[in-house]
Amino acid sequence: MALLSKEQLRLMLSENLEKHAAYKAKGLKLDMSRGKPSVSQLDLCGDMLVNVSEESGVKSGDGTDTRNYGMPEGLPEIKNLFARILELPAENVLVGGNSSLNLMFDVFAQAMSVGMPGCEPWAKQGKIKFICPVPGYDRHFSVCEYFGIEMINVEMTPNGPDMDAVEKLAADGSVKGMWCVPKYSNPDGCVYSDETVRRIASLKPAAKDFRVFWDNAYCMHDLYDTSEPLLPIFKACLEAGNPEMVIQFASTSKISFAGAGVSAVAAGDENIRHIKKRLFIQTIGHDKINQLRHARRFPDIDVVKAHMKRHAAIIRPKFELLYGLFTREFGGNGLISWTEPKGGYFMSVDVMEGCAKRVAGLCADAGVVLTPAGATYPYGKDPRDRNIRIAPTVPPIEELEQAAEIFCVAVKIASAEKLLGR
Ligand SMILES: Cc1ncc(COP(=O)(O)O)c(C=O)c1O
Repeated sequence: MALLSKEQLRLMLSENLEKHAAYKAKGLKLDMSRGKPSVSQLDLCGDMLVNVSEESGVKSGDGTDTRNYGMPEGLPEIKNLFARILELPAENVLVGGNSSLNLMFDVFAQAMSVGMPGCEPWAKQGKIKFICPVPGYDRHFSVCEYFGIEMINVEMTPNGPDMDAVEKLAADGSVKGMWCVPKYSNPDGCVYSDETVRRIASLKPAAKDFRVFWDNAYCMHDLYDTSEPLLPIFKACLEAGNPEMVIQFASTSKISFAGAGVSAVAAGDENIRHIKKRLFIQTIGHDKINQLRHARRFPDIDVVKAHMKRHAAIIRPKFELLYGLFTREFGGNGLISWTEPKGGYFMSVDVMEGCAKRVAGLCADAGVVLTPAGATYPYGKDPRDRNIRIAPTVPPIEELEQAAEIFCVAVKIASAEKLLGR
C-alpha cells in the first residue's frame, strides 16, 4: 500500500503531468519492448559471417560435407555442445534450425495430430488444458491459443511456479502439460529452486501424455560472474523414475545471432525416437553450414561461457541502470514492485492493480514503446492489470535512461490517479 498522504499524491500528480507534457512535446521514439540482442552484441560474433568459406573448408569434424543433404539430427559437434549445455547424453539431443520456438511448435503440432508416444492425439481428446506459470512468455501462450488448448494460470513465486497448485492441476487427466522457463525466466528472471525442479521431476500427472515443456532459453545468460545454479532436470527426472515427462529446448539465438542461431530439442529416449520419426519426414537436414559456423566459433561450452561474459559486460549496465533508478524513485513508497534478475533478457514490474494499461498508454503518448500490458498472461489478459515486462537490451544506454525516466513519470501519474480516485 502506498505510504503517501493525499497532499503528496496531488503534488506528485501535478509535477509528473507537467514532466509528461514536456516529454511528449519532444516527439521521442524509444523502445523497451524488444527482447533482442543489441547491435554491439551481434557484432561479438561478426567473425562467424566468414568462418566457413572455400578456404577454411565446408566439412565438419567427421568429414560431412555440410553443403549437402543429410544429418537431420544435426552435426555431432553441435549435438555434443547442447548435450553439455543441457546436461544430458548427446543421443538425447536433436539439433534444429534457427528457432527453438519452431521446435516447440512442432512438438505441439505432433501431439495434437499424432499424439505423444502410445497415446491418442490431443486433438481427439476433447477439451485439453495446459498449465501456464504467470507472468510468462507470450509466444508460449500463443502456441496454446493457436491449437485451442485452454490455459490455466499458476502464479510464479521467487522459487518458480506455485508447485502446490501445479501438483493439484496435474491430477486432472485433461491437463496435458506445462510451460517452464526455468532459468532467468521471461519476464521475471526467476531461477527455479532445487526443490521446485525436484517437485516438477517427481510429478505424477493423471495424463500419461502430460509433458513439461522446459524452455531453457536463458541457461547460459548470466549477468554476473557467478551463475545462479539450476538443477539439471533430466537427471532429476531419471532419479524420480520419470524420464519421458520433460522435453527441453534451447538455442543460441541470444548467444550468436537471434535470427541465425541454432536450436535444439532434448528429451528421454522414447520422446526422442518419436520426434525423430516425424523430423526425418519433415526435412532431409537443417542448415548444416550454419551449424558448422557455430561448431567452429563455439568448440566447447567453456568458449560459450567466456563469450557470454562479453554479452554480460554490454547488457549488465542496462539492467543495473533500471535497478538503481527504480530504487531511487520508488524504494519504500509501495507504488511498484520489481524483480532484479541476475541473468536473462527481461525484468518484471508490478504496478498498482488496474494501472498497467494506463502506464503503457502514458508511455506510448510520450514516445516510449513497452511490451503491451497483459502480454505476459494467457489471452493477453492480466486479471489484475498490473504486470509490465521491461526489455532493456536493445536501446543504447542514454536512450534507455530516458525511456526509464518516462516510465517512472507514467507510473507516478497512474498511481496518483488511482489513489486519489480519479
Ligand atoms: C523464453 C523464450 N523462449 C524462446 C524464445 C525464442 O527462442 P528462439 O529464438 O530459439 O526461437 C524466447 C525469445 O525471446 C524466449 O524469451
